[in-house]
Amino acid sequence: MRLKIIVILTGLCSIAGFAQEASNDFGRQVQELLSKMTLEEKVGQMTQVTLQVVSKTRGTPNQKHEVDPEKLREAILKYHVGSILNVYDLALTLEEWQTLITKIQDIATKESRLGIPIIYGIDAIHGANYIREATLFPQSISMAATRNPELVKKSAEITAYEMRAAGLPWNFNPVLGVGRNQLWPRLWETFGEDAYLVSVMGEAYIKGIEGDDNNIGSADKVAACMKHYLGYSFPLSGKDRTPAWIPERMLRDTFLPPFTKAVQAGVQTVMVNSGEFNGIPVHADHYLLTEVLKNELGFQGFVVSDWEDIKRLYTRDRVAATPAEAVKMSVMAGMDMSMVPYDYSFYEILLKLVKESEVPESRIDDAVSRILRVKLALNLFENPYPSAVLQANVGSDESANLSLQAAREALTLLKNNNGFLPLKKNIKVLVTGPNANLRSVLNGGWTYTQGNEESVYPKDKKTILEAIQDKLGRENVVHVEGSGHEKVVDIKLAADAAKTVDAAIVCIGEAPYCETPGNIDDLTLPKAQLDLAAAILETGIPVVLVLVEGRPRVITPLVDDAQAILLAYLPGPEGGQAIADVLFGDFNTCGKLPYTYPRHPNDLVCYDQKPIEMDDSNKLNPLWEFGHGLSYTTFAYSELKIDRPKMKMGDSLNVSLNIKNAGDRAGKAVVELYLSDLVRSISPEIKQLKRFTGVQLDPGKSRTVQFTLHKTDLSFHNRENKFIAEPGEFKITIGDLSVTFELVADK
Ligand code: BGC
Repeated sequence: MRLKIIVILTGLCSIAGFAQEASNDFGRQVQELLSKMTLEEKVGQMTQVTLQVVSKTRGTPNQKHEVDPEKLREAILKYHVGSILNVYDLALTLEEWQTLITKIQDIATKESRLGIPIIYGIDAIHGANYIREATLFPQSISMAATRNPELVKKSAEITAYEMRAAGLPWNFNPVLGVGRNQLWPRLWETFGEDAYLVSVMGEAYIKGIEGDDNNIGSADKVAACMKHYLGYSFPLSGKDRTPAWIPERMLRDTFLPPFTKAVQAGVQTVMVNSGEFNGIPVHADHYLLTEVLKNELGFQGFVVSDWEDIKRLYTRDRVAATPAEAVKMSVMAGMDMSMVPYDYSFYEILLKLVKESEVPESRIDDAVSRILRVKLALNLFENPYPSAVLQANVGSDESANLSLQAAREALTLLKNNNGFLPLKKNIKVLVTGPNANLRSVLNGGWTYTQGNEESVYPKDKKTILEAIQDKLGRENVVHVEGSGHEKVVDIKLAADAAKTVDAAIVCIGEAPYCETPGNIDDLTLPKAQLDLAAAILETGIPVVLVLVEGRPRVITPLVDDAQAILLAYLPGPEGGQAIADVLFGDFNTCGKLPYTYPRHPNDLVCYDQKPIEMDDSNKLNPLWEFGHGLSYTTFAYSELKIDRPKMKMGDSLNVSLNIKNAGDRAGKAVVELYLSDLVRSISPEIKQLKRFTGVQLDPGKSRTVQFTLHKTDLSFHNRENKFIAEPGEFKITIGDLSVTFELVADK
């Protein structure tokens, strides 16, 4: 009887009705679909190709992108591809996306045998950066400097909304690698060097993209893709896609936690690290993909490869002797979808492997079930199309204001000699340097194109120069480029101009870059720029350095003589405005360093050093430590208290302190709680960030801030790689205050 009811219900429940399912696991619908699928259709679901494969023309500033309807039909109807990704070089307009996605989904849902929709994925890493009209935000490294998870969440909500308006349901973000090598060209895609900070920001991002309840079937939510799992962010050489060597304990204490948190937060998909981890390419690592991610963390979503990386197990990594061995290795390691992305080789090979019983169909069924479940959860079976309703709000002024707020909160004042900043508005300034009058540099890579195409940036967003001109009047701003990023233009002209003004604003840093092309051999700022800044400093005119850069370029020779140094990271399209607002006092800075700013290119360290690194000869000696950042006001911390001097394993520890704005300007204090385990069986980090919060205070006002710590905050992986807390003394440090307590074993 029960069976009969199920059969009747199944019959009544058309594919279009799948998303009505109250439960979130979609198990029955997945099984029903799977039972109808041919092996070809299943293997097709695991195949992802790039838009180029189904295109007639490439998109460029002078040429419209055009899809090739025949190639598109071939991809969907002959090869049954489950997913398409990316742009063919240039971001599309909202309307172009809507037309493209409608075409794709029409073929997939109306012409294919089972009507399975395509899951289209893009890298919307700082806003929906492949939609021309979308709201762009500061890059993640800036968002980390805000220490404001609420802003991260809101920016992600806007990103998801704008993606759905275009019909794009899958975002290859957030990057949850902990960025612990300052040379690495993808540092700016991370939330910085601290695992706790990355975890908090990553969780906020996922909740923004997928919703608090992870109901990605909502009209304005999309599936997140945490990446790049695992260890990509710590290449030993600092070059992109080079080996990482990470012992198990470090993996578990530092690199895994943000991914664990994301799985707990319900992230739907994961992308794999292109590089190798302890000698094993992660695309072939059964331990990381299946044992840790799927079995131990209980990840229910699907795993997608990175670009061409299954092929590379054969063509580059030499762990596979043939292309077929590469496919088998990766799929058996736990890969569910291959970002092939230029051809159908993965499809052909995997099909053959299954037919020859080299790969069991049960593994295919598992992978396809995971993919179908996400498609069902996204409500794509019911509505795979772009949303006309959402369209009106794409790129709204309100969203741009949020981007401006994020850019402002991120700006980090590294140095401010005798309160030199903020500048008065009745002065004359020189604005110079390669980053003074470009929009692309404010945004960095992954903006409209993957690289650096200045001509496509909307002109209504201001460069630093334009925003300063608006503050002071054009007649009070002299602009001389002085130097490009690598080559001198005319330093003498800039230095001569400096002699005619009250102050010089020198905008230096990096040109936009992405991935491997961003590799460098020296973290030092290029000589042309150092020479420009040095020449301006030599004139004796007060100099403000504005650093616009994806990673902390070494500027040590300039630091002592500069009056002020403002680090802008990659502040996004509103960055010019935000920088001018801070320079001229219309916004009080509150950003905090998400990484440690090195003094020397061969002394790259993070803040959470070990005791052996703290003696005189090894002492941590960066220019500025993680967490540094000045304000135009001063905050006084007092009354740091804990609610018990002894904490049992099952207790929580409440910490409180008072914070007062003791200066004469309103401002936001970022209060950071650091914990030190004073004696431990594995030598402890000197200190680790455990909590942070922002407190906005008017002059003279004060507030009590409270934090709660639990045993897990005191825990680490011991010699047996067990996550434990050891009894003994701990120290809490907040600002210039500290207090100790004892963790006692339960009797
Ligand atoms: C990058 C990924 C990105 C993918 C798709 C790869 O080269 O490593 O981060 O998601 O391309 O664009």
